[in-house]
Amino acid sequence: MKDFTYYTPTRYLFGRGVEAKTGELTRWMGVKKVLIVYGGGSVIRSGLLDRVKLSLDNEGIEYLEMGGIQPNPVDTPVYDGIKICRDNNIDGLLAVGGGSAIDTAKAIACGVPYEGDFWDFYAGKKIVEEAMPLGVVLTIPAAGSEGSGNSVITKLDGLHKISLRTESALRPKFAIMNPELTFTLPPYQTASGISDMMAHIFERYFSNTPEVEITDRVAEGVLKAIIAEAPRVMAEPENYEARANIMWSGTLAHNGICGTGRQEDWVSHFMEHEISAVYGVTHGAGLAVMFPAWMTFMAQNHPVKVAQFARRVFDIVEADDTIAALKGIEVLKRFYTSIGLPVTFAQLGVENPDIDLLVAKLHENKGETIGGYYRLTAKETSEIYRLAL
Ligand code: NZQ
Ligand code: ZN
Repeated sequence: MKDFTYYTPTRYLFGRGVEAKTGELTRWMGVKKVLIVYGGGSVIRSGLLDRVKLSLDNEGIEYLEMGGIQPNPVDTPVYDGIKICRDNNIDGLLAVGGGSAIDTAKAIACGVPYEGDFWDFYAGKKIVEEAMPLGVVLTIPAAGSEGSGNSVITKLDGLHKISLRTESALRPKFAIMNPELTFTLPPYQTASGISDMMAHIFERYFSNTPEVEITDRVAEGVLKAIIAEAPRVMAEPENYEARANIMWSGTLAHNGICGTGRQEDWVSHFMEHEISAVYGVTHGAGLAVMFPAWMTFMAQNHPVKVAQFARRVFDIVEADDTIAALKGIEVLKRFYTSIGLPVTFAQLGVENPDIDLLVAKLHENKGETIGGYYRLTAKETSEIYRLAL
């Protein structure tokens, strides 16, 4: 096991009705005037935004609001938000929604105190040292941004979708998580969220670091729970317990606990980010296409951990690593299909992907060779994209 620091200073409030505490927690994080950031309108339709505002009113906290953040969020609203905060003496952010609203709020949070262009952080030119405090009211278990220090934004100029990783600067101070708020999720978003959280575990699980049995077992346990709860939540969207289990899984998948003590991979995410940047697909759906392809390549080239996954999570009984891995991948694909997810580019709605473009952007953004579990060149990432056709 490698040495590590594990620091996740987010206060989670989980359960029915907890959004009524938003004002109290905003005050607790020391904020007097907040910018509320939200998406395309689901929080208006559900009445959640009004309840959040009422809670802020009850605590005497002032607010302005910025809605309309689209999935796979882009840089333009970040610039708008930074200006609104500076012009109005805003001292904190409140994201109400999913990864897209949260990541936009995070970008604004680090952009306001910084004199230069906020994109410097995403481009790797600067490290985030200061950020405004941020709270979250989560409406979709998927990206795990409520418990991560990361933010993913697409620069419209050139369609560069980049993940900024910080240890703690961009972790939300609090996350309000009421599973009932997820009852209204469309099935495709529920399923894509399930795929995304599984992928966050895979990226940490596929590792060469030896002697990480505890971290492996935590990861396998969360994966098994997700796979068991998924059919329930798809069949009964208003089943509180199933929604609650899936919601907490999404946080555990991405708050770092499944990666402690080992090197991580993240290639499938990088490869998917190019697809969602160029074709605008839902991130989790793109991952359901990319992960089986990446695993198939690994089954031929470095199967050991994929075989362990197949045996321990899907109970595959098979001595040969490559065959065990391939059998596990087939079960994984059947699982994705059973919850309505695509497993090929065509099913994702991208009939003729421009693989040369995806590969060129991938290596321009991430370097000549990529991956922690297996270093991949452009020739190999191209092969993996082709395995997803
Ligand atoms: O925009 P609204 O109207 O709110 O609708 C959203 C959106 O269309 C809808 N939705 C959310 N909650 C709902 C709801 N509809 C009905 N009822 C509800 N309760 O769902 C759609 C997707 O929302 P979005 O915020 O985009 O979802 P998600 O949480 O999947 O976020 C995706 C973004 O996060 C990034 C992804 O790349 C993508 O850009 N990621 C962020 C990460 C991080 N910060 O740590 C890690 C991830 O790997 C990921 O890359
Ligand atoms: Zn993800």
